[in-house]
Amino acid sequence: MTTIGFIGSGRIGGALARLAVGAGHDVVLSNSRGPETLRETAAGLGPRARAATVGEAAAAGDIVVVSIPVRFHASVPAEPLRGKVVIDTLNYDPARQGSVPEIEAAGVPPYLLLQTHLAGAHVVKAFSTVFFAHLPLLARPAFAPDRSTLPIAGDDATAKRAVAALIDSLGFDTYDAGALTESRRFAPGTPAQLAHLDPDGMFSAPPRPVGRPALTTLLGV
Ligand SMILES: NC(=O)c1ccc[n+]([C@@H]2O[C@H](COP(=O)([O-])OP(=O)(O)OC[C@H]3O[C@@H](n4cnc5c(N)ncnc54)[C@H](OP(=O)(O)O)[C@@H]3O)[C@@H](O)[C@H]2O)c1
Repeated sequence: MTTIGFIGSGRIGGALARLAVGAGHDVVLSNSRGPETLRETAAGLGPRARAATVGEAAAAGDIVVVSIPVRFHASVPAEPLRGKVVIDTLNYDPARQGSVPEIEAAGVPPYLLLQTHLAGAHVVKAFSTVFFAHLPLLARPAFAPDRSTLPIAGDDATAKRAVAALIDSLGFDTYDAGALTESRRFAPGTPAQLAHLDPDGMFSAPPRPVGRPALTTLLGV
């Protein structure tokens, strides 16, 4: 089993942590306000979960999920993540989350922002295409006919294999879209990013499972 560190334990981080403990992984939760503010959340997840500082979560994780508003990306500590597999769930939405100078002025593509900051880590983009409340509704056992396939992208093949194995344990197949730059295919505003949303009910309707053939069509590959 894997220890998963969480930098950011809100809607997406919390939903992933719940799936992870359900799959038998250990999770270490952190946020910006300190472990005492997460003790209750960790207790609610059971003995496989604990609250920690950001630095401790980064150090403890075999895989570390970064799930914070994009504008705070530079606060993610680079040193404890050097050489580690990091899952980047971030979506850039300046209207709701605030703008980022590196993106607006320096021209860094939003989907490369975290890898640029964490140059020594192996960043894999994942989970950025699923509304947090839909994660537990879409998760299925292996080989279920309506299991969904999630896109991942990253520059390190070993890291992507580790992330794919983790995602499989959480109830999803994966489609490797290629290098991190290819995550532009499922960035905000693309059809793949909204794959699971029912166009009539959007966020309030039940999510639609999306298998590999439909996903590859949406990705345009
Ligand atoms: N919500 C979704 O359905 C969804 C889906 C796909 C992708 N995403 C992306 O995933 C990211 C997280 O979204 P979310 O909806 O989960 O946000 P959220 O519910 O607001 O949670 C954000 C979490 O990040 C923590 N945080 C904020 N600044 C931090 C920092 N500097 N260091 C450590 N932790 C920090 C917050 O803790 P404090 O409260 O202590 O600050 C909180 O635990 C965003 O980039 C979003 O675009 C979200």
